Amino acid sequence: MEVWRNLKMLWLLLVLLGVQTEAINPGIKVKITKKGLDYGKQVGMKFLKSTLMKMPIPDYKGTQRVPIMGTMTYSMTGVQIKDISFGESSIVLVPSSKLNLSVGPTDVEVQGDWSMKVSFIHDNEKINLKLKGMMLNAVVEVGWNATRRLSLSLANCRFQTKSVDINFQGRSSWMYKLFIGSAKNSIRQALDSKACDGIRKVIATLERKLHEVPEYSHINSLADFDYSIVAAPVITNNSIEVDFKSEFYSALDHLEAPESPAPFSLPELTDRMLVLGVSDFVPNTAALIYYRAGALSWNLTDSKIPQSFATRLNTGSFKSFAPELQKQFPNTPVVLKIFARHPPRVWTQSGSLHLMFPGAVQAFVQPKRSSEVPVFLLHVDANITAQVFVSGKNIGANLTMTDCGLSLVHSEVKNFSVNKLKNLMDVALKSAILPQINRKFNKGYPLPTLFNTSLHDPVINIQEGFLTIATDILYGA
Ligand SMILES: *[C@@H]1O[C@H](CO)[C@@H](O)[C@H](O)[C@H]1NC(C)=O
Ligand SMILES: *[C@@H]1O[C@H](CO)[C@@H](O)[C@H](O)[C@H]1NC(C)=O
Ligand SMILES: *[C@@H]1O[C@H](CO)[C@@H](O)[C@H](O)[C@H]1NC(C)=O
Ligand SMILES: *[C@@H]1O[C@H](CO)[C@@H](O)[C@H](O)[C@H]1NC(C)=O
Ligand SMILES: *[C@@H]1O[C@H](CO)[C@@H](O)[C@H](O)[C@H]1NC(C)=O
Ligand SMILES: *[C@@H]1O[C@H](CO)[C@@H](O)[C@H](O)[C@H]1NC(C)=O
Ligand SMILES: *[C@@H]1O[C@H](CO)[C@@H](O)[C@H](O)[C@H]1NC(C)=O
Ligand SMILES: *[C@@H]1O[C@H](CO)[C@@H](O)[C@H](O)[C@H]1NC(C)=O
Repeated sequence: MEVWRNLKMLWLLLVLLGVQTEAINPGIKVKITKKGLDYGKQVGMKFLKSTLMKMPIPDYKGTQRVPIMGTMTYSMTGVQIKDISFGESSIVLVPSSKLNLSVGPTDVEVQGDWSMKVSFIHDNEKINLKLKGMMLNAVVEVGWNATRRLSLSLANCRFQTKSVDINFQGRSSWMYKLFIGSAKNSIRQALDSKACDGIRKVIATLERKLHEVPEYSHINSLADFDYSIVAAPVITNNSIEVDFKSEFYSALDHLEAPESPAPFSLPELTDRMLVLGVSDFVPNTAALIYYRAGALSWNLTDSKIPQSFATRLNTGSFKSFAPELQKQFPNTPVVLKIFARHPPRVWTQSGSLHLMFPGAVQAFVQPKRSSEVPVFLLHVDANITAQVFVSGKNIGANLTMTDCGLSLVHSEVKNFSVNKLKNLMDVALKSAILPQINRKFNKGYPLPTLFNTSLHDPVINIQEGFLTIATDILYGA
C-alpha cells in the first residue's frame, strides 16, 4: 500500500515536471527537404532585401574631436539604404538540432544628409557610406520541451565587416580627411559588435511569434483540432521533420481519443520541397467526435426529395417489397431516420482510401392526426472506396461503392425480404447518388494554401495507415 502510494506520488511528480513518460505518436508529419529549405532561403533573401531597403533608419547625432579645430557636432538625417548586394548564402542542416546559416560577402550602400558644426564652420551635404564584405555565420539551435513549444536560440554567431568607405560629396571634404580614418574604424567596430545582438533579437522575436501560434483551432461548436508539436524536430543532413499531434477533440469534453495513431515514417525524398504525411487516425478522430455528438444522423422526408423525382417517400413506394406496410398504412408519408450505429472508419491501403459506414435506417410512418409510428429498422453497412488524385490545383476523389450490406433488424409490419430493397438501393446508389457526389468530388477542391504559397505539382501516395503528399511550393503564385 505504502509502495503503491509512493509510486503514485512519483508518477504525479514526473507529470508535474512535464516529463513525458510515453512518446506521443503524431497524426501529421511535415518534412521540409533541403530543396525546400533552399527555396525558402531564396524567397527569404528577397524578402530580407526588400524589408531592409524600406527600413526606416533613425537619425543620428554625435560629436567628434577634430584636431586643432575643437569639437565637431554633427548629425545624419534621411538615411536610406540605396543598395544591397548579398554574397552567396547557405543553410546547412547540422544533425540533430542545428541550422548553420551563412551569408557571404555582402555590400551595402547607405546615403544620407550630413550636417555639422565645428568652431565657426557649418556644413550640409550628402554623405555616402559603403559597407563592404560583411560576412555572417549564425548557428541556430532548434529545441523543444515538454511545454510543447519550439525553442530557437543562437548557439554561435560571427559577423565581420571587411571595410567601410565614407564619401562626402561637397566642397568641405578636405576637412573630413582629418578624422575619416578613425570614423571608418569606429563604424566597423560598432557594426561587428552589435550585429550578433541584432540577430539574437530577431531570433527571439521569431521564437515569440512561433509561441503565439495557437495549438488549438476551434473548428465549430462540436470540434476542436489540436495541432501541437509532440516531439523535438528531427534535423538530418537533408531534411527537417516536425510532428504534430493532429487530433480532433470534442469541443464539449476534450476527451482523449481511445487509441493513438500508429507510428509511420515519411519517405526520403530529395526532389520535392515538402512532404506531408497524414495518418488514418486524423479523420477517424473527427468521425468519432461527430458520432459521439450525435451529428451523424439525418432525417429524410418527402419534402427533401426533388419534385422532379417520380418516386415519393410514402408507403406506396414500398409496396413491392413490404406489401404489409402499404396494407396497414395506405399511402401514408414515410420518414427515414438515417444514423451511424458506430463511428465510421477511414483506412488507407495500397493506393486507395476506404470508408466503412455502419449505418441504420429507422422508418416511421406519419398517419394524419397521429404521431409517427415506427415500422421497421434496417442495418446498412456501406463500404466505399475512394481514389484520390490531383488535377491541376485541385485535389479530387472518385468514390465507388464496394459493398453495401442490408439486413432487416426488426419490423412491425411482418418480416419482409430486403433483397428487392437492396437491389433498388444498389441501383439508386450506383446510378444516381454516387454519380451526383462524384461530379463534385471528381472536379475536386482547391489544395490548401498557406502564407501566400501554393502547392506545385503535388503527388499523392497512399500507403497502409497513412497518406503522403509530396510537393513543391511556389511563393506568391
Ligand atoms: C557552420 O558553418 C561555418 C562556415 O561554413 C563553419 O565554420 C562552422 O564550423 C559551422 N558550424 C557548425 C556547428 O556546423
Ligand atoms: C520550454 O521552452 C519555453 C520556450 O523556450 C520556455 O519558456 C519554458 O520555460 C521551457 N519549459 C521547460 C519546462 O523547460
Ligand atoms: C547524410 O547522411 C546520410 C546517412 O545519415 C549519409 O549517407 C549521407 O552521405 C549524408 N549526406 C551528406 C551530404 O552529408
Ligand atoms: C429526426 O426525427 C426524429 C423523430 O421525429 C427526431 O426525434 C429527431 O430529432 C430528428 N433528427 C434530426 C436530425 O432532425
Ligand atoms: C471512377 O471510378 C469508376 C469505377 O471504378 C470509373 O468507371 C470511372 O471512370 C472513374 N472516374 C474517374 C473520373 O476517374
Ligand atoms: C466492409 O469492409 C470491412 C473491412 O474490410 C469488412 O469487415 C466488412 O465486412 C465490409 N462490409 C460489407 C457490408 O461488406
Ligand atoms: C425473415 O425472413 C428471412 C428470409 O426472408 C429469414 O431468413 C429470417 O429468419 C426471417 N426472420 C424472422 C424474424 O422471421
Ligand atoms: C503574395 O505574393 C505576391 C507576389 O509575390 C505579392 O504581390 C503579395 O503582396 C503577397 N501577399 C501577401 C499577403 O503577402
